[in-house]
This record gives sequence, C-alpha cells and structure tokens, in this order.
Amino acid sequence: MAITIAPSILSADFSRLGEDVRMIQNAGAEMLHIDVMDGHFVPNITIGPVVVESLRKVSSLKFDVHLMIENPEKYAEAFVKAGADHITISLESTRHVHRVIQQIKSLGVTVGVALNPATPLETLTYILQELDMVLLMTVNPGFGGQKFIQAVLPKIIALSEILKEVNPLCLIEVDGGINMDTARLASRAGAEILVAGAAVFNTPDPGQSFKDILQAAEEEQDS
Ligand code: DX5
Ligand code: ZN
Repeated sequence: MAITIAPSILSADFSRLGEDVRMIQNAGAEMLHIDVMDGHFVPNITIGPVVVESLRKVSSLKFDVHLMIENPEKYAEAFVKAGADHITISLESTRHVHRVIQQIKSLGVTVGVALNPATPLETLTYILQELDMVLLMTVNPGFGGQKFIQAVLPKIIALSEILKEVNPLCLIEVDGGINMDTARLASRAGAEILVAGAAVFNTPDPGQSFKDILQAAEEEQDS
C-alpha cells in the first residue's frame, strides 16, 4: 500500500494560501488536508466553505476536509459544493454518526470518521463497513504543532488488523504531531495517509520537508 502525506494548511501562511498550496503541489503532494474548526467542538476557529471554494480554483489536489465541528450534518453539503473530495467527521461531534455517514456518501464524496485519542476502536464496530477512511487523531484536535501521542500507536496496529477482516479497502489516516520520526512510527504501525502541518509549513523549505517526511515513511514501509 502506497503512503500518502497530506500537508495540512492549518500551518500555512493564510495571507498567501494559494501560493503555499501551489508550492506543495509542485513538490509532489496529491492530497491537501483542510482543517475546519468551529470553536465549539474544538477550542479554535479556522476556515469555512468559502476558503475551500477559493482554493478549488487554484488547485487540483484531492481536498481531504477534516470537520472538527458540531452538527457536521448541517455543513457537509456546503463543503462538497465548495470542492471537497473527501469529508471526515469526528465521531464525538454528532449523536447520529451512521446517518451523517449516509448523508455524506449521498453527496458523492468519500467519507471518513475521526476518533479522538481517548476514544476506543470499539465505537466503530457497527459503522466500519460503511467507511472509506478512519482517521486516528494522534493529538487532541484543535491546534497544529502539538506533540504526537505515542499511546495511539497500538490503536493503529489494532485497527489495521481489524480492517483486513472487515473492510480491506478502508484507509487509515493519522493526524497530529507527524514529523520524519513519527511518520516512521505511524507508517510501521499501518497508517497509510499521514497528515503533516507544522513539520511541512513551519520550515524554511516546505516542499523539501514534504519530500523528507514522505521518504522517511516509505523507507519504513519497505524495511
Ligand atoms: C489538529 C488538526 C491537524 C493539524 C496537524 O487538530 O486536525 O490536522 O493541522 O498539525 P501538526 O502536523 O502540526 O500536528
Ligand atoms: Zn486535521
């Protein structure tokens, strides 16, 4: 299984978002991670559909939209209309997760469910077959630049084993604190999409940082 690094624009320069996205696309990125926060589900506010719509005009990257918002069912359609290719909702953000999954699928995009670090895998038992992706948070959601929580590693390994049986096409994404070192750990554990914000954009050469993290993750997979 190929590894994908999805740079998170949360750590990009919001005054020149288009240029930062183009830079990362030129470095070889195929997926862009877009963090949507509402100040309720998480203690931070970021971007809405209008920004996604603007980026869609300047980028052909696959838009991986990560909703960290309450009532995701109210906003999913707006993000799809704005150009999202994939929508991930947070399990903890809605009472009716199965219904929201069906709703997002009916909008014609792929769907993922994110679990906070403390949320057990068992919460996914009855929805796993419906999913294109599971996102295991390796930090508590809300901010870029936090430290990778090592305790999630056994969760990645366990999910990888379960998916082999239940839904082999479902991808495992990890998000939070990914750098060259933790990319190796996550890749070894079975993650296939690694989100990286600060370790890409808060560096002098984001394109090169993207390539370095990808290489580290790929080496680990081959070893
Ligand atoms: C955190 C967000 C992440 C964040 C990752 O709540 O979901 O996607 O941008 O940033 P880093 O890679 O800096 O931990
Ligand atoms: Zn994210």
